[in-house]
Amino acid sequence: MPPGMATTGKAGANKAPEGGAQPAPATVLVIHGPNLNLLGQREPEIYGHTRLGDIDRSLKQLARELGLKVEIFQSNSEGAIVDRIQRARGRARALVINPAAYTHTSVAIRDAITACDLATIEIHLSNVYRREPFRHHSTIADIVVGRIMGFGAEGYLMALRAAKRLIEAQHRAAGA
Ligand code: DQA
Repeated sequence: MPPGMATTGKAGANKAPEGGAQPAPATVLVIHGPNLNLLGQREPEIYGHTRLGDIDRSLKQLARELGLKVEIFQSNSEGAIVDRIQRARGRARALVINPAAYTHTSVAIRDAITACDLATIEIHLSNVYRREPFRHHSTIADIVVGRIMGFGAEGYLMALRAAKRLIEAQHRAAGA
């Protein structure tokens, strides 16, 4: 089993309530890092023409289809992103994160993900390996379950589907 799989999520989070009622849908937290609020306007030749609001709407639609609850957060501030990850501790079952420029610098975001034991998928709109060398390093690449990049806005939907699979694997591992 890959290292990320062994430490995914919290076994108790979103567990079925007593009495045979339907379990609450598992929560996936999606985080967009700095400058992604400008998607659609910002360097469209690299990041495409789709706006963040459109990505978020597509994510919510897909979450409904997959039976997931999605919480979406965008911030330009590293500390706010750390705070949001901490709030998901024990509540969210998976994290989909595009840390944007913080990908290449942030030990704080890495530590927050590790501290919160969240099954994480790293996503980038662009293929960072086709770009400047400083974008080739990610502070979280070795602690995430997997990375999706180079598929533009579509990558977020791929990431949500991957999160669904991770959550199903968590259920199986927990014997549910
Ligand atoms: C990005 C790639 C980063 O290098 C950059 O700083 C971003 C966006 C991407 O989605 O391709 O802001 O994460």
